[in-house]
Amino acid sequence: MVTTDENGDQRQDQKHQDGQGENQDIFKEGSSYTGPHSLPPSPCEDSPCLIGSTKFDPYPGAKNIMITGGAGFIGSWVTRHMTVQYPHYRIICFDTLDTPASHENIRHLFKLPNFVFVRGCITKVPQVMNCLRKYEIDTIMHFAAQSHVDLSFGNSFSFTIMNVVGTHVLLDCARKWSKIDRFIHVSTDEVYGEVDNEASDLIEASLLAPTNPYAASKAAAEMYVNAYYKSFKLPVIIVRSNNVYGPNQYPEKIIPKFTISLELGLPLFLHGNGTHKRRYLHASDAANAFDTIFHRGKVGQIYNVSSTDEIDNMTVSRKILAEFGFVTEEQFNDRVQHCKDRPFNDMRYAVDGGKLKSLGWEQLVDFEDGLKSTIEWYRTWGLDWWGGEDKVRECCSAFPSPKRSIFEDDVSGELVEFENHQVQIGKCLVSIGYENEEMAEDGEQKIVEPTARKSNDLLRGLKDTFNMDTLRSLLD
Ligand SMILES: NC(=O)c1ccc[n+]([C@@H]2O[C@H](COP(=O)([O-])OP(=O)(O)OC[C@H]3O[C@@H](n4cnc5c(N)ncnc54)[C@H](O)[C@@H]3O)[C@@H](O)[C@H]2O)c1
Repeated sequence: MVTTDENGDQRQDQKHQDGQGENQDIFKEGSSYTGPHSLPPSPCEDSPCLIGSTKFDPYPGAKNIMITGGAGFIGSWVTRHMTVQYPHYRIICFDTLDTPASHENIRHLFKLPNFVFVRGCITKVPQVMNCLRKYEIDTIMHFAAQSHVDLSFGNSFSFTIMNVVGTHVLLDCARKWSKIDRFIHVSTDEVYGEVDNEASDLIEASLLAPTNPYAASKAAAEMYVNAYYKSFKLPVIIVRSNNVYGPNQYPEKIIPKFTISLELGLPLFLHGNGTHKRRYLHASDAANAFDTIFHRGKVGQIYNVSSTDEIDNMTVSRKILAEFGFVTEEQFNDRVQHCKDRPFNDMRYAVDGGKLKSLGWEQLVDFEDGLKSTIEWYRTWGLDWWGGEDKVRECCSAFPSPKRSIFEDDVSGELVEFENHQVQIGKCLVSIGYENEEMAEDGEQKIVEPTARKSNDLLRGLKDTFNMDTLRSLLD
């Protein structure tokens, strides 16, 4: 097997020929891997390769599709779907393999010749540019994000960095690459904020009014997407989906978390009084929605993806308990513990999905069926999927602890500057600017000493923005 490291050097070593140790090398930061090949055995090897059901005539402008966040939950559904349903597209999964990701989500694809995995971060210009150039990318489907609302209350700056700066980097690299035919930006219904019970479902032109830091970062990212459409004619499409559930979702969100908690005999921590409602869409329907939008959507448009199943958290808990045979009030009270609510918790979201339906998409999986099969999947594979019982057990607490706080765990208080326009914010190294970038003779990207005044200004600007004293004083 051939891997490519971040310097563009290719190598084939004995370990790969023996089929040993691929994980370490394939998943090394900056490495990329082209199939076909098999990953080493794991307890999840016989898991099904889950995809959606739609299949369209090939889109003429598409050959090489980069899917950011393709090893995460929704991204992996779309990555598997596109790789399996469309063998003539080459699918390049670009993912940093953050905690919610799992290489199990894309395990089966390593056997297919039209699949490529690149371990890279959307905040790093050189890694993004290398990927665009090396694989001649013509389409970007951008799923990568910090996606957990609960974490955003404790560590909102990493949401700004990944979701806003990361999206900005990706947009600007796409602009510079200038060969992008479609840039599908994955946003969320949360950008609209809370919707009253009596209010009509919101159409795509409705006001954005996010209420939590996660939603704010997604709304901010959308502003950049729109600006790049208007200013640079980047062919963008924005998608705002309801809550998605199903197999492959890291057990930090309610359905997998409660299922795993019951499996491990742990309490179910219900936020507040449990009356908050969400609309739930099965991941296979979400995969179909992205496939439909990719093949039939129009550039410059926004599409809501809406489910018909609106359910409050208390009811979700009862339904999951029932699947484990716990149906009495006493059994409910034994297992469910009400805990404090989020600092702010939207009562409900409600989007109108008519525009997407007019492209031919429809919801195929109702919540009852989808929930049953999802619970079955987690009971079969859930403990092994993300590296064992101890790892998933950590997800079952009432609230997650923000592990990557720039104030607590991982920052000395100093902003460290690196060469090549990099700044370190906490553990996150952001690479900005490419004025000093050159193409090496072999076609690989090369970075030379930074000299351009413009990029130094940019660096200073970012340094000021993320000055730790300023940030702390804002919080005091
Ligand atoms: N889950 C939902 O219900 C839902 C609903 C609407 C919209 N969304 C949006 O859909 C997208 C995917 O959500 P999800 O639930 O699948 O999330 P997820 O957390 O399961 O997956 C996110 C993926 O992005 C990757 N990633 C994170 N930061 C990265 C970086 N800097 N560079 C490269 N990769 C990075 C992670 O490793 C992970 O694989 C997000 O943009 C989210 O805002 C999710």
